[in-house]
Amino acid sequence: METTLVILKPSAVLHGYVGQIVQRFQQKGLVIRGMKMMQLGEPILREHYAHLTDRPFFPDLLKSMMASPVIVMALWGNDAVNVVRMMTGATNGRKAQPGTIRGDFSVSGQENIVHASDSADNAEIELKRFFSPDEIFDYQPSWLKYTYEPAEMK
Ligand code: TYD
Repeated sequence: METTLVILKPSAVLHGYVGQIVQRFQQKGLVIRGMKMMQLGEPILREHYAHLTDRPFFPDLLKSMMASPVIVMALWGNDAVNVVRMMTGATNGRKAQPGTIRGDFSVSGQENIVHASDSADNAEIELKRFFSPDEIFDYQPSWLKYTYEPAEMK
């Protein structure tokens, strides 16, 4: 079992899509272990998108990510990083498969609704970036026994 980080971006918050997106993750069987609203600023975004600071679209990306508060989520499950990335879809909403979050809610490369960690190592770093340890809760809802076979709960 592992935990991954999701950000519901301003494009999700300002459209009023938060409930629908949270519902998808819950329906899939992911456990919400942390969730809060926060206003992102330039320092944390420069760190989070360090691989993109030299790209010409970076100033617009900053503006887009600071356009409103975001919702950050810590989602727990078996292979949660890959499961959530599959649900998220390709970066550009126009290229994302229908059925994925970006495929269903976005037609943009930038206004693409969600961020999701792309590897277990990055998930660990990103969870620390957005949550303090006491904001992530270790609990197991009773429905897990109808969600996984015992061997999958590891
Ligand atoms: P990236 O880490 O490449 O993709 P992903 O979010 O799928 O992991 O890019 C981070 C964000 O940067 C992306 O979600 C939206 C923005 N972005 C652009 O605005 N234009 C671009 O051409 C790319 C590649 C990303």
